Amino acid sequence: MDCRPIALRVTELARISGIGKPAVSMALKGVANAPEKLELAGGKIVGILPETVQEFLLARGQSNLAKNSLIVLSTQTGGCGKTSSCINLAAAARRMTSRQSAIVLIDADSQASLSLQASGTAAGDDEPILLSWIEGKVKSVADLLTQVGENVWLIRSNLNNAFLDRAMGRPQLIKTAATKLVRELIDHFGAGTKILVDTPPQLSSIGQSFIVATAAMNQDEVGTLLVPIRLDDFGVKGAQIAISEANEVVNAFFNTSVKALCFVNGFDQRTKNSVRTLSAITRNPVLNDFLAPVAIRHSSEIARSIARRSSVFTDYKNATTIGADYMDLLLSALGCERDERTE
Ligand SMILES: Nc1ncnc2c1ncn2[C@@H]1O[C@H](COP(=O)(O)OP(=O)(O)OP(=O)(O)O)[C@@H](O)[C@H]1O
Ligand SMILES: [Mg+2]
Repeated sequence: MDCRPIALRVTELARISGIGKPAVSMALKGVANAPEKLELAGGKIVGILPETVQEFLLARGQSNLAKNSLIVLSTQTGGCGKTSSCINLAAAARRMTSRQSAIVLIDADSQASLSLQASGTAAGDDEPILLSWIEGKVKSVADLLTQVGENVWLIRSNLNNAFLDRAMGRPQLIKTAATKLVRELIDHFGAGTKILVDTPPQLSSIGQSFIVATAAMNQDEVGTLLVPIRLDDFGVKGAQIAISEANEVVNAFFNTSVKALCFVNGFDQRTKNSVRTLSAITRNPVLNDFLAPVAIRHSSEIARSIARRSSVFTDYKNATTIGADYMDLLLSALGCERDERTE
């Protein structure tokens, strides 16, 4: 994935921080002489580098941005935006958080679409994958990692991961397997590590294990299950089952509720179906409680970014609105709510 940090524009930082553009420019004047913090052209700020974005948002109370985080994309229905959200949230995170903190993408789907989009290829047959790790065949997590950007890493998948569920036959493994991997990745990379997981579109043991891992994150860390909702009745049903099942598995091991957010993917206000289904979601007693304040709009830029095997940010002139949606969704998933940001 071409995951160079594409510096934030002043208008973008103004929007996500809820502070006016002139105030952002004023606040950044203090760092204008440090070339490693800003991109300048003729004395004007044209780009704000990730470390400066994080520093700016932390100073305004968005402390969750610097925390270790696990975000798991999961739902029972296929083709609803798990993989595209995973990659674009990672790219948004690379623009908004310090490059000293690692971003790790985990492909837990044997279809390997995340691996293909992020690195151009699925894992080779001899390459260690999640299955090898679960089977105890990998000495260090470092052996699982492929670098795909500036401190952006990927655990690739291939069709052999179709045997993951068989390898995870014991219920105890659902409780421990993914949590152990997450802990080892955080130990390996250090503070501020962000892990994003793409799961298969079914009720898999590996998916459940990562959901349990969100609940096993420490108090000063973030763990979120993100459920994309496709805008049709079947998609709504899939999301409802995903949330109910996730709640059940977390409850079975920890006696608590799952920390989940569902979000509408592919929203188009011009179509009756989008509006009707969104209204059904807000009336759905399970989904409404978990509904994110952000929807990802329908955008042809998603297909274009898949074709060029990158994120929506790499052709940014076409991606302003959809990129903004992913940045907002990331902040929601990390618990940096809009209300706090605009205080
Ligand atoms: N917001 C969107 N606007 C337009 N097209 C979208 C959007 N989100 C996803 N798509 C398209 O929908 C298709 C499925 O998306 P994606 O692969 O992310 O779903 P998925 O849930 O990972 O699918 P699977 O269940 O097969 O793993 C892709 O071809 C993508 O281009
Ligand atoms: Mg997918």
